Amino acid sequence: ASNAKFFVGGNWKCNGSVANVRKLVDELNSGSVPRGVDIICAPPFIYIDYVMQHLDKEKYQLAAQNCWISGNGAYTGEVSAEQLQDFGVPWVILGHSERRSLCGENNEVVAKKTAHALAAGLGVIACVGETLDQRNSGSMFQILNAQMQALVDEVKDWSKVVIAYEPVWAIGTGVVATPEQAQEVHAYLRKFCQSKLGTSIADKLRIIYGGSVNDANCKELSFQEDIDGFLVGGASLKGSSFVTICNAAG
Ligand code: G3P
Repeated sequence: ASNAKFFVGGNWKCNGSVANVRKLVDELNSGSVPRGVDIICAPPFIYIDYVMQHLDKEKYQLAAQNCWISGNGAYTGEVSAEQLQDFGVPWVILGHSERRSLCGENNEVVAKKTAHALAAGLGVIACVGETLDQRNSGSMFQILNAQMQALVDEVKDWSKVVIAYEPVWAIGTGVVATPEQAQEVHAYLRKFCQSKLGTSIADKLRIIYGGSVNDANCKELSFQEDIDGFLVGGASLKGSSFVTICNAAG
């Protein structure tokens, strides 16, 4: 990891029930996690209130998994960044590959959402990553450039942005990127930001890895110079695994 403060996010996705959210919160609260790490849990919207009331705030912060592109209004089914801010949710995940592929969010939408959420006072975990086809056909860096450039064009203040590199082929597949594969892209993303935003912003920017991270592979990944943490899906639903990952700061 670089010198940036280690950051671990748990993206619960559309999982959970009243009963097992309660169980997960209890497991997380009884876990021992390091103080010097930012640890974020992202439940589905409907459980945020419960989690906010019961999760140990000394250890964990909250995130939403998405928000609307603009403020309150006639946007049925949406939740705005302003509402998250009002409710006391400090973070939001934006541009997750599932939202890109299943909900049609393109680079421009993700970038505009990011800028809006930042302006509303939230921190943003902005996700980028290539598909297996894109990697195999040699267009990976072009895809990453376009995803990052859209953010560069919209974001003014990078101090509350975390970039999550999530190769689509590694998400939920059990096929984790090797430490070398992840480091190659993280270093590339940092260089991209150095050239577009300057070294002082780029060197402080947290670039976290997501895609089949678990308690067994997190340590080795965390030793890589440009891996500043993780965004965890499946393994964040098991308290003991997530706590182990939170303790992996390299
Ligand atoms: O946002 C986290 C994610 O997409 C990774 O999911 O289940 O492969 O850890 P998973």
